[in-house]
Parts: sequence; structure tokens; C-alpha cells
Amino acid sequence: MFKAEKIAELVRQYGEAFYILDSDKFVQNFHDLNDAFSSVYSNFRLAYSYKTNYIPQICRLVNELGGLAEVVSDMEEEIAEKAGVSPQNIIWNGPIKDIKKVERFLLSGGSVNIDSFEELNSVQKIAHSHPDKTIKIGIRCNFDVGDGVLSRFGMDADGEEFRHAVEVVKGIKNIRLASLHCHFAKRNIEYWPQRARGMCAVVKRVQTMIGYFPERVDIGGGLYGHMHDSLRKQFSGKISDYTEYARAAASVFAQEFPKKNFQLVIEPGTALVGDCMQFAGMVKTIKTIRNKTFITILGSQKNINMSGLNPPIEVIETGTDRKNVSDADIVGYTCIEGDVLFRGYSGSISVGDMIIFKNCGSYSVVMKPPFILPDFPIVNVVGNETKLAKRAETFEDIFNVYIF
Ligand SMILES: Cc1ncc(COP(=O)(O)O)c(C=O)c1O
Repeated sequence: MFKAEKIAELVRQYGEAFYILDSDKFVQNFHDLNDAFSSVYSNFRLAYSYKTNYIPQICRLVNELGGLAEVVSDMEEEIAEKAGVSPQNIIWNGPIKDIKKVERFLLSGGSVNIDSFEELNSVQKIAHSHPDKTIKIGIRCNFDVGDGVLSRFGMDADGEEFRHAVEVVKGIKNIRLASLHCHFAKRNIEYWPQRARGMCAVVKRVQTMIGYFPERVDIGGGLYGHMHDSLRKQFSGKISDYTEYARAAASVFAQEFPKKNFQLVIEPGTALVGDCMQFAGMVKTIKTIRNKTFITILGSQKNINMSGLNPPIEVIETGTDRKNVSDADIVGYTCIEGDVLFRGYSGSISVGDMIIFKNCGSYSVVMKPPFILPDFPIVNVVGNETKLAKRAETFEDIFNVYIF
């Protein structure tokens, strides 16, 4: 709950729309999730999925808290390095990687999860050119968890190509299979025991083939995070908590590998950061067209990226010309007809009010296109203090790359 005075102060300092990042909440989420899994399987490490929200202040926090960086592009790998993460603590996933950058990364001690045989061929060449170096790789494993998705990522863990890839790795003296990885996007708890059992089977098979355990077994992200009941109700399935995911997956590993032969890793984004960001936008106009009321704010659905769902909201009464509205849509400042941030608002509202949209830390700032300006800053609230995490993008930031 925000106090009107606090929001009015932020408006004076940062303008009529901004993101509020709650890094204390992020730290709490990190500890809670880490504790939930560590208490079931002690040799556990949390990685953070950068793509979900790569604000550098968050990436730094993860590193300080002892978490790993999960990246899917050389851009994100660069963010990790700039945030002070050592290559050994970076997990590099993704279907296509820049091989020159991969080479530099591997030679500095990092490990990449290969996604295809073509990628293994490229890594083999790197290993051949640097016989004095041990190259660490992982393989992204693809198997059926019964979620109805035929994923395009990784290698078919039950296929001939996967077996052949493991044989190839075994045959090259300076390549070490340091990691086995998988990720499934569906967050429903019923697929988690299946992903754990599937990975345990792959680990055992690979261990028999190569004669050693990987250092890490990474079972990906795809967990729900904390959310307000009003949001929870809009999902059809059950929203599980951290402890339930740990029980569903980590306990399978604890049972199958009581000696904790490898580090178990998960790489969530949404579950850690989803409820740590809010977007605040000022009401600019209120109008009624053929009996439908539209409240237009400074901000867009693209800022909160919650298409089809109503985020939890709070109206801060900073305006003075109050009226009551019923079944109004809160809409964005773009010219897109479907730019609706919230459907069916009923209650008191005024031009000049600030509307706070909650639970918008996941795939929001990273997905927002430079479609229309102004852009909005990100303000990090740390205890009683606020510090800027990102200033608003300017015309120059966007158009410097175009040729006029
Ligand atoms: C490989 C991988 N790991 C982790 C994640 C993080 O997922 P989430 O934010 O749902 O936890 C993703 C998301 O797409 C992913 O592709």
C-alpha cells in the first residue's frame, strides 16, 4: 500500500509515470525460494533468468546473494560480466549463440549449454584449437513431461543424436560434460515431478556412458511467484508456492541421489521478480463514449505486459476532481485500439490520480518496444531510500541507430 504523499513525492522527482522496483522484496523472494529447495536437496543453487528482467541492479543483487546468472544471448552474457559475475557463475542457454563470443567465454572458464549437434561441432573446433584448455559444456535435454508441448529446444534425450553427442564429448579429452539442463515453460505443479524424474533418468544414463556425474543438473524455470488473490483467481489451474515446487522436484533428486552427487539448479525469473515491480501512471483523461467510460493514463499495456489479465491495481487519489465510474476501461497512451491495462474498473477516479499496477516485474521492461515516447524511468526503492535504476529513454537513445 502506497501513501499518497510518497507517490506525490515520486511524481515530483521522476515524472508522471514510472516503475517502482522493490529490491527488498526481491531479496526476500530469493532467500525464501533458495531455502525451500535447499532444505530438501542441500547441494542446491539458485540461478536467475536474466531475460525476465535484466535491470543491472537486480543482476548485481543476485550475484551478491550467491545466485548464478542464466543468460540466453551474448547481450545478457555481457550484462552479467558488467554486473561483476564471474564466467564460472554464468549459465549460457539459447538456441543460437555467437561462436566468437562463446569461444572467449569458454576459454575464460564459463560453460555453455549446447542446443544442437551443430553447436557441438563448433565447440569441438574450439576444443581442438586450444588443446591446453579444458572446455566445459552442458547439453539442454528435451523429453516429454506430458504438458502437451513439443518443445523445439535442446536435444531429444531419448534420441540417437543425443547418445551420439555424449559419445563425441566422451571421445574428446579436453571437453568436459559439466552440466545437464532442461526447461519447461508450463508452470503447473503436475509437470514438475515428471521433469525431475526425466532428468534423473538422463543423469543416470549419461553417468554410465561417460563415467562421471555432471557438476550441475539444471531443471530450468517456469514457476509461479507470489500474487494477489485478484490475479490468482484469473488463472484456471492451481498457483503453487515455493515449498510445493521444492517438494515436487527436489525431493525426487534427494531420493534418487542421496549422496547429492551434483549441484541441483533451478533458473526462475517470474517467481523471483514478478511481484517486485509496479508501474505507476497518471490519469490524463476520463471520457464516456456511447455509455462506455475510458480512463486514459500515461503508460501502456506494453509497459506492464499482462495481456488478457487484470493486474491488481491501487488508485492513489492525488487528483482533485473526483467522480464515480462504473465498468470503465483503463487504457494506454498509444494509438493501439486494444491498449487496455485494466478492464471493468468501478469506483472513484480523478484526472491527476496515480494508478499503481502491481505484479509487473516479469517480461515488462525487457519487452517494451520503442513504439511511442515518452519512455519511463525505473526507480529502485531500497528501504526508505529511492535510487534510479534506469532513466527514461530519449529520442536520441532510439534514433541514434537510424540513418536520417
Ligand atoms: C531456458 C529458460 N530458463 C528459465 C526461464 C525463466 O522462466 P520463468 O520466468 O517462467 O521462470 C526461461 C523462460 O522462458 C527459459 O527459457
